[in-house]
Amino acid sequence: MATPRPAALLPLRFASSVALLLVVAFSSLMRPSDAYDPLDPNGNITIKWDVIQWTSDGYVAVVSLYNYQQHRHIQAPGWKLGWVWAKKEIIWAMTGGQATEQGDCSKFKTNIPHCCRKDPEVVDLLPGTPYNMQIANCCKGGVLTSWAQDPNNAVASFQVSVGQAGTTNRTVKVPKNFTLKAPGPGYTCGTAKLVKPTKFISQDGRRSTQAHMTWNVTCTYSQFLAQRSPTCCVSLSSFYNDTIVNCPTCSCGCQNNSTAPGSCVEGNSPYLASVVNDPNKNSLAPLVQCTSHMCPIRVHWHVKVNYKEYWRVKITVTNFNYRMNYSQWNLVAQHPNFDNLTTIFSFNYKPLNPYGVINDTAMLWGIKYYNDLLMTAGPDGNVQSELLFRKEPSTFTFQKGWAFPRRVYFNGDNCVMPPPDAYPWLPNASPRLSASLLLPVVAAWIAIAILLMTHAL
Ligand SMILES: *[C@@H]1O[C@H](CO)[C@@H](O)[C@H](O)[C@H]1NC(C)=O
Ligand SMILES: *[C@@H]1O[C@H](CO)[C@@H](O)[C@H](O)[C@H]1NC(C)=O
Ligand SMILES: *[C@@H]1O[C@H](CO)[C@@H](O)[C@H](O)[C@H]1NC(C)=O
Ligand SMILES: *[C@@H]1O[C@H](CO)[C@@H](O)[C@H](O)[C@H]1NC(C)=O
Ligand SMILES: *[C@@H]1O[C@H](CO)[C@@H](O)[C@H](O)[C@H]1NC(C)=O
Ligand SMILES: *[C@@H]1O[C@H](CO)[C@@H](O)[C@H](O)[C@H]1NC(C)=O
Ligand SMILES: *[C@@H]1O[C@H](CO)[C@@H](O)[C@H](O)[C@H]1NC(C)=O
Ligand SMILES: *[C@@H]1O[C@H](CO)[C@@H](O)[C@H](O)[C@H]1NC(C)=O
Ligand SMILES: *[C@@H]1O[C@H](CO)[C@@H](O)[C@H](O)[C@H]1NC(C)=O
Ligand SMILES: *[C@@H]1O[C@H](CO)[C@@H](O)[C@H](O)[C@H]1NC(C)=O
Repeated sequence: MATPRPAALLPLRFASSVALLLVVAFSSLMRPSDAYDPLDPNGNITIKWDVIQWTSDGYVAVVSLYNYQQHRHIQAPGWKLGWVWAKKEIIWAMTGGQATEQGDCSKFKTNIPHCCRKDPEVVDLLPGTPYNMQIANCCKGGVLTSWAQDPNNAVASFQVSVGQAGTTNRTVKVPKNFTLKAPGPGYTCGTAKLVKPTKFISQDGRRSTQAHMTWNVTCTYSQFLAQRSPTCCVSLSSFYNDTIVNCPTCSCGCQNNSTAPGSCVEGNSPYLASVVNDPNKNSLAPLVQCTSHMCPIRVHWHVKVNYKEYWRVKITVTNFNYRMNYSQWNLVAQHPNFDNLTTIFSFNYKPLNPYGVINDTAMLWGIKYYNDLLMTAGPDGNVQSELLFRKEPSTFTFQKGWAFPRRVYFNGDNCVMPPPDAYPWLPNASPRLSASLLLPVVAAWIAIAILLMTHAL
């Protein structure tokens, strides 16, 4: 006989599930830059080893890196892949890549291995490498595009001939402790997992061969691991309010002459040239222009024009970093009106729909040879675009900062947004007014604005 559920338990269950929800919500707030990227929940770099041939003392493998991240690319000086051999393996030879250090090969008398380190680190070869040292997908200087931008150039491969390894699928041991620098820290790699051997289809598509053995490693990115401070921030403005909402002060760091002199340089400083070219400085560390936000990158979103059926936004990305030309940069923005984006000028656009149905996220990037290179800080250090959105009457409003983006990423890193209560407000619309009082005022104002605009056109 089924016992009826005691009524007293229900509120308890309810309370505990509410508590659980709160904990979940809270913990997601507490870890804003954890490995999980809500705009790219499956983003990862997968490293695949295909053992394609046994040799007298080991094997030949093709190692491929797939950048499955929608909006995070690997820029110069490129990726560096490391691992720790499980036994006493050595690398006899490599094609399409090279180990950065040979290590101690003094035991070898006639044939000298390419690398004897227990923990080799491999980098890509540069473009222009002689053909006899290339393999497919190699030799891009370690640069990989993001998957959304160009999947054909999001893959890298090199071939490695391993000695003192096993020569059967039972004696070969998979390498351990994979590390990926791309460039600098940020990626964490899992352990290698033996998977179904890869099948290679011949060119005519009528025969397939397969690897003797295949293992996969998955690496994921975390902004937190990459660097504690953010790298970009967002500023806002609109035609309906003179206020320019700047990036929050100290978004990426604070200007402090006493603790960190020289942490930034003034744009008009006579020493600028000598600081920029200082060969002792780590070229990966940004050298930023002194600003209140201290970010290398600022994204400005300006609500520019209100038409009858459309509205127009101008986006400006400004580089404050004197040490970096951002090649193949990309921007991801989330706004509910992206499902009605009608025209975009001078940037490429692709919708990102991590959850299938909600079409509110756009990836934007430069047009090749026109503005795909964001130049270093200075007069040329910016790129701009305008976006035309068709109004969806049921959702469109200028109220409550609706016209501003919800989230912005630059090169895969989350940008610091101004607090919502600082967004430019419609004139006469005090944030303290309750929504019911606000609505008629705003509606009337929008009606007037639309009238004015359509007259002006
Ligand atoms: C890595 O990304 C690919 C492509 O998005 C996905 O199919 C795969 O499940 C991901 N792997 C992991 C371990 O998340
Ligand atoms: C090794 O090869 C044997 C025979 O081809 C196969 O049955 C076995 O599943 C393979 N083991 C692994 C780990 O691939
Ligand atoms: C692999 O990494 C783990 C954790 O970082 C460490 O404890 C271990 O010593 C490493 N193994 C080798 C062989 O370096
Ligand atoms: C291993 O990685 C390759 C390349 O990304 C992928 O095609 C394959 O499905 C992966 N295998 C497993 C079991 O994840
Ligand atoms: C600069 O750093 C010092 C020492 O940490 C601190 O006392 C001071 O408040 C800082 N000044 C600013 C403007 O952040
Ligand atoms: C740092 O010094 C510069 C010029 O020397 C000055 O303009 C700026 O206000 C100072 N910043 C702080 C936070 O003291
Ligand atoms: C940026 O690119 C310009 C033009 O290609 C070049 O002159 C300059 O040296 C580059 N700057 C850096 C920091 O790479
Ligand atoms: C998302 O919206 C854009 C702009 O209207 C459209 O081009 C694209 O096809 C939409 N994608 C999906 C999956 O609905
Ligand atoms: C906006 O896009 C949505 C989804 O694609 C569509 O259902 C709707 O009709 C569009 N609205 C306008 C005004 O085009
Ligand atoms: C513009 O917006 C700001 C909030 O960012 C608000 O304080 C100000 O009153 C607004 N200006 C007008 C004319 O409404």
